[in-house]
Amino acid sequence: MKKTGLFFQCCLLIFSTQYVFANGTEVVETEYYRAADGDVDPRTFIGWNVYHQVCVGCHGVGGTGTETAPDLTLSIEKLSPGQFRLKVLHTTIVKFTGDDWRLMEQAMLEEITKHEQRSRGELANMPRWEYNPAVKANVDNIYRYIRARADNMIGKYKPGILKE
Ligand code: HEC
Repeated sequence: MKKTGLFFQCCLLIFSTQYVFANGTEVVETEYYRAADGDVDPRTFIGWNVYHQVCVGCHGVGGTGTETAPDLTLSIEKLSPGQFRLKVLHTTIVKFTGDDWRLMEQAMLEEITKHEQRSRGELANMPRWEYNPAVKANVDNIYRYIRARADNMIGKYKPGILKE
């Protein structure tokens, strides 16, 4: 029997917000966006644009929620980009953080409760966006935008675009 060698996997998890100074302006860079003085990188700006074409009617200007739909700047704290994508494109997700099975179980129960409330007409439905090409192509950019909003890097209204 042939013995296979040992594989060493090095996972370098580089993540932290960096602060650099260019021309006296503080630039904040995270794994999702770059922001300075209320301006954002082009992809995050596209996220702003698509959000305000498609989602604004229910989730409100700047993502802060309405009577119809939740405040996404709060929701985002519990959603990874993958979970966000699933929710936005297919509307069903089970949210939990960490690998605690009790949290997972609780999240599944919450999702079942939501389903029941929806079928009784007590909870509005989040539309599925998988057939909307602009949303499908930009769901990650919308995530960037909502992250930048949640981190208070930009205001409710149209941000400027950072030069590369
Ligand atoms: C017609 C109204 C409507 C529109 C338009 C809409 N949503 Fe929603 N959305 C809802 C409702 C209602 C909920 C809460 C029920 C649920 O979770 O399914 C929701 C929930 C969500 C959630 C989960 C929030 C949480 O805390 O669980 C995300 C993420 C979300 N929407 C993102 C989006 C994005 C991104 C867009 C635009 C592409 C969008 N929505 C457009 C109505 C809408």
